[in-house]
Amino acid sequence: MTSSLALSNGLRMPQIGLGVYLVTDVAVCESSVKAALDSGYRLIDTAMAYRNERAVGRGIRSSGVPRDEIFLTTKLWPSDYGYEKARAAIAASLERLDCGHIDLLLQHQPVGDVQGAWRAMEEAVDAGTVRAIGVSNFTAADLGELLPKARIAPVVDQVELHPHWQQPDLLPYLAAHDIVPEAWYPLGHGARKLLDEPAVASAARAHGKSAVQVILRWHVQRGFVAIPKSTDPAHIAANIDVFDFELTAGEMADINALGKERPMFRMPRRLMKAVMPLARPRALP
Ligand SMILES: NC(=O)c1ccc[n+]([C@@H]2O[C@H](COP(=O)([O-])OP(=O)(O)OC[C@H]3O[C@@H](n4cnc5c(N)ncnc54)[C@H](OP(=O)(O)O)[C@@H]3O)[C@@H](O)[C@H]2O)c1
Repeated sequence: MTSSLALSNGLRMPQIGLGVYLVTDVAVCESSVKAALDSGYRLIDTAMAYRNERAVGRGIRSSGVPRDEIFLTTKLWPSDYGYEKARAAIAASLERLDCGHIDLLLQHQPVGDVQGAWRAMEEAVDAGTVRAIGVSNFTAADLGELLPKARIAPVVDQVELHPHWQQPDLLPYLAAHDIVPEAWYPLGHGARKLLDEPAVASAARAHGKSAVQVILRWHVQRGFVAIPKSTDPAHIAANIDVFDFELTAGEMADINALGKERPMFRMPRRLMKAVMPLARPRALP
């Protein structure tokens, strides 16, 4: 079973969840979500842009886990920003998921009419169709623009975050504003150069765990939410089996020392602004 963190609006969010980015095969997505829920996960992370919301919803409904035990996240893509478009996109997402409500709705990227979309997201919270709202890929500067105009504060910023990229500028800002850091690429997208780090391997040997489990435990002890993606049932089960050991202060320090100066994924802001508001995600058939 996973531990959870208190969000600034009082909701609790599990610290380990299943990410389903690039899991576009309907049957695989549905069975992965069901396998995760069977293994004790209670957080599922999808997005309108992943084109798998219907399959996620089916996986949740077929799991037999009561809906109120599950924390379901989805994200608005910038082609749906602006007040009117965001309202319509939220309604369409609720219909595709078919799970009653969305626990956490994120703005996927900080480009386009962020303010208009935020207003539509706030109204969805007022209406009870969405329980909490947040952002993804926002820098401290992006949040600095949004926060003064937000009636409802963002509870989470989902960003690239793993031992090789520890967001040195953003994390202090998030802590100061009571925004939980949520890690995408929590395993560095599965890159061997991260999994094979000697500090990770040594902790894995000491605790009889895998490198992946050590990295996920590091996220938990740092106070992050992490959403590793897997479609392999054995990996899915292993990735939540990280609550029976604790990394020592020395092991945490050795992994903290692995931080590098650049993220793995980089896209210039001018390209994001030019491309993302045009790329409208297609719904599943
Ligand atoms: N907001 C954003 O802009 C954004 C961007 C990227 C990702 N995300 C979210 O973050 C989630 C995770 O990111 P990600 O999928 O790119 O990277 P990731 O979770 O860091 O890594 C996934 C890779 O690790 C492998 N893996 C998982 N568990 C493993 C295990 N126990 N042993 C060995 N290999 C394992 C997976 O392969 P197998 O499937 O074979 O296990 C996959 O190749 C996404 O699914 C999505 O929900 C958000």
